[in-house]
Amino acid sequence: MNITATAAWKAIEAHRQSLSPVHLRELFARDPNRVAALSLGFEGLLFDFSKQRMDSTTLALLVELTREAGLAEATTRMFGGEKINVSEDRAVLHVALRRSAAPFPSADLDVMAEVLPTRQRMAAFAEKIRSGEALGFTGMPIRTVVNIGIGGSDLGPKMLAYALRSISHPALAVHYVSNLDSAQLAPLLQTLDPRTTLFLVASKTFTTQETMLNAQTARDWLVANLGDAAAVARHFAALTAKPERAVDFGINKESVFPLWDWVGGRFSLWSAVGLALMIAIGPHAYAELLAGAERMDEHFRTTPFERNLPVVMALIGIWNTDFLGATTNAVLPYNESLRYFPSFLQQLEMESNGKSVGIDGQPVAQATNPIVWGELGNNGQHAFFQLLHQGGRLVPCDFIAAARSDFPLPGHQEALLANCFAQSAALAFGKTEDEARSELSRSMSGAALAALLPHKVFAGNQPSSTLMLSRLDPQTLGALVALYEHKVFVQGIIWGLNSFDQWGVELGKAVASSILPAVSDARLATKLDASTQGLLDFTRQHLA
Ligand code: F6P
Repeated sequence: MNITATAAWKAIEAHRQSLSPVHLRELFARDPNRVAALSLGFEGLLFDFSKQRMDSTTLALLVELTREAGLAEATTRMFGGEKINVSEDRAVLHVALRRSAAPFPSADLDVMAEVLPTRQRMAAFAEKIRSGEALGFTGMPIRTVVNIGIGGSDLGPKMLAYALRSISHPALAVHYVSNLDSAQLAPLLQTLDPRTTLFLVASKTFTTQETMLNAQTARDWLVANLGDAAAVARHFAALTAKPERAVDFGINKESVFPLWDWVGGRFSLWSAVGLALMIAIGPHAYAELLAGAERMDEHFRTTPFERNLPVVMALIGIWNTDFLGATTNAVLPYNESLRYFPSFLQQLEMESNGKSVGIDGQPVAQATNPIVWGELGNNGQHAFFQLLHQGGRLVPCDFIAAARSDFPLPGHQEALLANCFAQSAALAFGKTEDEARSELSRSMSGAALAALLPHKVFAGNQPSSTLMLSRLDPQTLGALVALYEHKVFVQGIIWGLNSFDQWGVELGKAVASSILPAVSDARLATKLDASTQGLLDFTRQHLA
């Protein structure tokens, strides 16, 4: 289906033409109830989208798109366990991973019979490590956990572990290793005690090059240091949908925790892939995280679309991308603990919806996912915000902040939040030439004022949403992640995409395996393109 040919799309386009000349200053002046109309609350969350370049009519028109696209039916299909990931012939049931009760999605298809016992096994394993009961090969308790994984087997758990470090076990260190570059693993190994270290090999497929090479190197290091291959059984566990491959690697069957083909990699933090996180924060806090996500699932499934947080967030993205022409979306957490949230979102959004061929195999008629990027907002202010304020490009921003700090120091939280709110206000409202002139005229006049004046003007009208969290507790974070997951699903449905495959990452993997032998053997490079040959020549000269 071509969504751009629908009556709903055309109505939005007509509305855009009348609304787009109106500045955010004017939109605020026109409607005293604007903030009430354009904000939503959900438990510990407040989503203020009043600084988007839209009004209540825009939202109502956008909601019509969900009907044209069949969002309600698609949601029922996903929650019902239908194989909506058609290119991989798989159901999409990560929502099952946060449910507390069986059966789900139905008595016939119940996946909870495997989900719940796995969660219990994870909890028992995590408790043994937390309590010091789990002993390494030499009889010393495990005190360090290293999660080896990449993409979805790294980003989500790492992001949440950092976000929840204020409640993490004080005597356990948890590290995340993802990069092929040995500059990540090698210095870490130098700091580790093999007698007290546990490696978690997190890989849905158990074939990913980065993870397998890092896991093999860690295994070699462990065996070399403990002097016995039998040590692997006590120092390795696996989180995978391919348990037989983990056993072949040498990992004990009892230390293999399953996930299933219906869990997409970027949605796997709720599965056994979350084990390192569960070890860090404990099974109780982990259960709260799941509960927060489950509550967001229910909100998404049952709330009318005009008040439905993920749906509204998705529609704002579609408005900015397809009607206002934005090509990027900045994610700006004003909270140190959300440092890794932008990179987590990059995979979630861009691997899901960074596609231009629809689920029907036809090219889509409209732009799809914008480039998601971001950085801690306060640091960004002193780096790239200049471009947001005066670069003349449309860059919609997601500001994210928590009202309470987890590591309070006098004066910091107030100043941090003042900066967050100031930035979104300055981006929205800017500073007119008259305002700039009147400010400058207090200290200068004549030619000097005229020369400086253009540099002091801020066009404003840069759209943003602000998502406030009461605090970064597990429940609120669970809801936050599920919110963005469902946003991605909604956008995928409206854009006509399969949000759950990722064929675009395959070509690079195949090319890398054809280049690898040529790195060390020049004769094998002759069939490669001239640029690659040149890069390999340079590399070979310097590799030794
Ligand atoms: O190559 C992309 C990808 O498949 C992601 O989708 C996934 O999260 C990541 O690689 C890691 O995959 P795995 O968990 O199978 O090692």
